[in-house]
Amino acid sequence: MANKLWEKGFEVNKEIERFTVGRDREMDMYLAKYDVLGSMAHITMLESIGLLEKDELTKLLAELKNIYRTCEQGEFVIEDGVEDVHSQVELMLTRKLGDLGKKIHSGRSRNDQVLVDLKLFTRHELMEVVDEVKSLFDELIQKSNEYKDVLMPGYTHLQIAMPSSFGLWFGAYAESLADDMLFLQAAYKMTNRNPLGSAAGYGSSFPLNRTMTTELLGFDSMDYNVVYAQMGRGKMERNVAFALATVAGTLAKMAFDACLMNCQNFGFVHLPKECTTGSSIMPHKKNPDVFELIRAKSNKIQSLPQQIMLIMNNLPVGYFRDLQIIKEVFLPAFDELKDCLSMAAYIINKIEVNRHILDNPMYDPIFSVEEVNRLAANGMPFRDAYKKVGLEIEAGTFKADHHIHHTHEGSIGNLCNDRIQELMDNTLDGFHFERVEEAERRLLNEE
Ligand code: ARG
Repeated sequence: MANKLWEKGFEVNKEIERFTVGRDREMDMYLAKYDVLGSMAHITMLESIGLLEKDELTKLLAELKNIYRTCEQGEFVIEDGVEDVHSQVELMLTRKLGDLGKKIHSGRSRNDQVLVDLKLFTRHELMEVVDEVKSLFDELIQKSNEYKDVLMPGYTHLQIAMPSSFGLWFGAYAESLADDMLFLQAAYKMTNRNPLGSAAGYGSSFPLNRTMTTELLGFDSMDYNVVYAQMGRGKMERNVAFALATVAGTLAKMAFDACLMNCQNFGFVHLPKECTTGSSIMPHKKNPDVFELIRAKSNKIQSLPQQIMLIMNNLPVGYFRDLQIIKEVFLPAFDELKDCLSMAAYIINKIEVNRHILDNPMYDPIFSVEEVNRLAANGMPFRDAYKKVGLEIEAGTFKADHHIHHTHEGSIGNLCNDRIQELMDNTLDGFHFERVEEAERRLLNEE
């Protein structure tokens, strides 16, 4: 392989080369844009400490900006024979600017370079995941309010239990997302710290100004201890994966509920036919594949923290090539989750609700507790009321009163959706995405 950054006069065995690169070039394509941003910040700092001349910096920044545009236009490639994204960017600079291109790596290692790329990529992707979660949340709250008075049976043990409502069902998943958002925020805050300047994991004898690159890249602060900065590789991915997994858990559960409720034996919800799929043999089929795929893809995402944990299991302190493999499971997960989230919002919007489920007398027993409570409120001891109603149900003489009287917070009569909205809004206020967007614009000189 030509163009190795670590070329020192001997050829590496081809099989070793094939195996050590593996799928890394494909994975590095996710990072290209961020590799360029990281380099822009690094060389701006190098100039400030006298390791580059002003005019050198200007030339390098202009060229890096061109490469950034190439990435944005989808035209960036890692050429055959080039080891990784870091080598490709340096190669493009040296082709254009000669020896000047080779100056950018002072005080840096690919170890902190890939760390900063991963942080910038993940930060960006988390911002998009947050947006998608918010859109699904809005859709669920809207449906919850729309169907707040439409009753349906609630279940325990998959046996009819007590009256519930579509308002409660949709709202429950909205509140679940509000909780998931706290994990996303923790993940975001942990991600938004600068590892650049940790070099190979032990710092540099150059007087690197890490505060400066932290500000230039719009990080909240830095991973201070250089050894910890390197230790963060894998830990950041695993913790972010936990946040993605909790969102995916909400989606998977919701999808399974929807499949069940859409089954003819339940018939609680219905999908417009253009949102279903067919069978090659059974002409009547209208299958809810969308929910099934959301469920499976979300379950796959729930395995991500474990996959990452096992890849890096028991690694001691310091960089190891093992860490490269985490990229293969971690980087593609964001697109998968975002796709599931936007599909979920789309299909929840289309779902049609059966307003007449409880017309079927098979559901009458769900009102038994209401009746027991009514008797108890009128003075009958609870256990006696329970027995009276139980015997009536056994004898088939129980008369269900469909009028329910739940008023306490969070129940059918008082969904508290405005309070759930407040939970979500308070969390969203804590992200401060605008700081990141500002910093990136400034770095690219777009103000
Ligand atoms: N492809 C490598 C990774 O993802 C980049 C860092 C290489 N560093 C090294 N010391 N070999 O980890």
